[in-house]
Amino acid sequence: MCGIVGYTGMQQAAPILLEGLKRLEYRGYDSAGIAIMDDGSISVQKVSGRISKLCELTEDGKTCPGNVGIGHTRWATHGAPTDINAHPHMSNDGRFAVVHNGIIENYLALREELIGKGYHFESETDTEVVVNLLEMYYTGDLKNAVMRVSSRLQGSYALGVVCSDAPDEIVAIRESSPLIIGIGAGENYFASDIAALVPYTRNVVYMEDGEFAQITPDAIRIYDLFGNPVSKKVQKVNWDVQTAEKGGYEHFMLKEIIEQPRAVEATLRPRIRGSEIVLDAEGLDGEFLRKIRRIMITACGSAYYAGCAGRYAIEALCRIPVSTELASEFRYGDPMVDSETLVIVLSQSGETADTIAAVKESKAKGAPVLAMVNVVGSTVAKLADFTLYTWAGPEIAVATTKGYTTQLALLYLFALYAAKETGRVDDKRYRHLLRALRSLPKRIQEAVDLNPMLDRYAEDYRNTRSIFFIGRNSDYAMAMEGALKMKEISYIHAEAYAAGELKHGTIALIEEHQPVIALCCNTIVQEKTMNNIIEVKARGADVLALAEKNNSEIISVADRMMYLPEVEPVFAGVVEIVPLQLLAYYTAKCRKCDIDKPKNLAKSVTVE
Ligand code: F6R
Repeated sequence: MCGIVGYTGMQQAAPILLEGLKRLEYRGYDSAGIAIMDDGSISVQKVSGRISKLCELTEDGKTCPGNVGIGHTRWATHGAPTDINAHPHMSNDGRFAVVHNGIIENYLALREELIGKGYHFESETDTEVVVNLLEMYYTGDLKNAVMRVSSRLQGSYALGVVCSDAPDEIVAIRESSPLIIGIGAGENYFASDIAALVPYTRNVVYMEDGEFAQITPDAIRIYDLFGNPVSKKVQKVNWDVQTAEKGGYEHFMLKEIIEQPRAVEATLRPRIRGSEIVLDAEGLDGEFLRKIRRIMITACGSAYYAGCAGRYAIEALCRIPVSTELASEFRYGDPMVDSETLVIVLSQSGETADTIAAVKESKAKGAPVLAMVNVVGSTVAKLADFTLYTWAGPEIAVATTKGYTTQLALLYLFALYAAKETGRVDDKRYRHLLRALRSLPKRIQEAVDLNPMLDRYAEDYRNTRSIFFIGRNSDYAMAMEGALKMKEISYIHAEAYAAGELKHGTIALIEEHQPVIALCCNTIVQEKTMNNIIEVKARGADVLALAEKNNSEIISVADRMMYLPEVEPVFAGVVEIVPLQLLAYYTAKCRKCDIDKPKNLAKSVTVE
């Protein structure tokens, strides 16, 4: 998500912080800022847009005296990417400044409480509650104030705090968001990401959840949330800057695949409160949903395939007819949408030209539009009547992975929410499905762990010209995304086919050693897909199947297996896609393709 850095030592802090922030640029951001402590007071410089603007404003930091400071690159989640919403944020009394990476889930309640006590807020961010809570709980001891504040926060956060009463000290705290302390000689650092530290030090301490550090130029003291000292090992980092940017992974795409449990957690967790689903889109409630007769999902590329997969879940749970339409086709078909049709638009970037056009066309026809978007403040997000952010964090690789899975996870959440609000699911099944949703991040991790052999399987596709992906029902939707991943990064022709359609034409192309990837995760159609595997095997195909790990029937007919953990069938897609992403990744790698920047593709397609 965002990036944070901090420095305390003998050198001027601002140039070091700006250099650290530049090292975090690769992650994507929309605003940046620094807070510097000097002579008992804190001054903040922050801008929306590029770090170069901040460098210009501060003459590369030279105009900001002071040896202690914190810095931030923001990727907007709560509130548009404006100067005011940029970090650092200051407390009302100007005594504290805070930078924050993550999401404070209970910020609305805390904000209300603080307003009731006379505090005022300048920004729309969740972070500003933290800095004012610090002011409220401070009684002369920063460490105690941080402990009290953290006991009030729900969500994920890595925070850096400075207080004008503690002139050479920074406090940094971690809960479900990365935080690393960098150790120098007579100077110390913190950052959310090793990339910001490697120009200065290779000696680091990795913080764990529920730990916080008091950092001064000469010492690092680490505590648990009850204030008990914790002893930590100093580790040596041997990464170069490029490796550090990718978190030690060879490519951003692999990093983003592995990040998916965390990304899906960020999408779902803040919206599941006890036994309730709380969607942060005013008016998207039972009264509105009961008036909806049809849903149309529209998007491009992978986002469209997420829609195809989500359709099955919405229809299964809500019993509302759902159709899917490519956004690039939408406006040319005189779409039949009206005020009783909810148009759901999916877009990672929120800037895809065809998707924007589909939103405008729907609105012109009087249809309400619900956007599911990753980039806050993007055009699609602004145009829609309701917007739910996926909160996947910046996606750097051109081929989407976590962008896609978080869209699908959000569609599942919406499906269950709408089913509950419209009375289409009984309490027992609702509770069961909610538990299943909550466990999806864990299931995704299991899908990674269950398939350590995919790099070897990929070797067999090194010289392959064409691969078929087959499946039925929701497995067919996953086959489409699996095939797209394979072709866009490995340049192998891959075709997704509804398994039952093979005998209506394509089976003629199945010959000796033709690779077929068979998806058998949907239990309702599994037996039927098994028959299709037998059909293609009879013609000499080489079948790699994906099924639940205990499925002995599929194992007995396929040549090789990829495994799925046990997962609730309605939500299986978001888990099922992960081995397919990894297989595409390793295939592209053994063919020496430029994985993060496949030829002729752009991350955001802003032309028709
Ligand atoms: C494929 C991919 C594209 C995008 C499509 C829509 O890996 O990334 O197919 O899914 O261009 O982009 P967004 O979601 O930004 O509208």
